[in-house]
Amino acid sequence: MSGDWESLRAACEGCQRCELGKTRHKLVFGVGLQTSPVLFVGEGPGQQEDLQGEPFVGAAGQLLDEMLSIVDLGRRNCYIANIVKCRPPGNRDPKPEEQEACVGWLYEQMRLLRPKLVICLGRIAAGVLIEPDYRITRRHGQWVFRDGVWYTSIYHPSALLRDLSRRPETFLDLLAIREKVREVCPEVYDQI
Ligand code: URA
Repeated sequence: MSGDWESLRAACEGCQRCELGKTRHKLVFGVGLQTSPVLFVGEGPGQQEDLQGEPFVGAAGQLLDEMLSIVDLGRRNCYIANIVKCRPPGNRDPKPEEQEACVGWLYEQMRLLRPKLVICLGRIAAGVLIEPDYRITRRHGQWVFRDGVWYTSIYHPSALLRDLSRRPETFLDLLAIREKVREVCPEVYDQI
């Protein structure tokens, strides 16, 4: 890990900017290649992530890994983080004030990573990173270009575990993401 990443993680580990800092077991900073131009952003850690300190290690994480493999990606060549870095108790959605308190850490990560593509996993990440009140049912798979970065959203893997009917359209979104990676940052596929 480069010095900047190390000091950012160390600062984040001590964070008490919101109530979630009081109940976390482990802070879930992020995982993956710290030079990757492709960033996936979920909403916040669940129980397994809170215990292990790594994003997407529970059931949703297994599905996310399968989704990444459709895009020819994996934890070795993209970066994965969340809007909030500590687990909301009982797997509730992170509150707006918790999202606001925490998202600065994600912006710091993005400053270091300088992603070219940002894929929001679910409505909450898209509402923060693309547009407030984002309607994922209408807008998943659409691309927005802002400040040199391409943003899109797909259904959150937890939603896809609950609702199988969303999977065919997500498969098409994933194929489109693969095309976009090839177009915008094909070097990603050179990483082993
Ligand atoms: N869901 C998320 O949004 N993030 C995780 O890290 C795990 C589950």
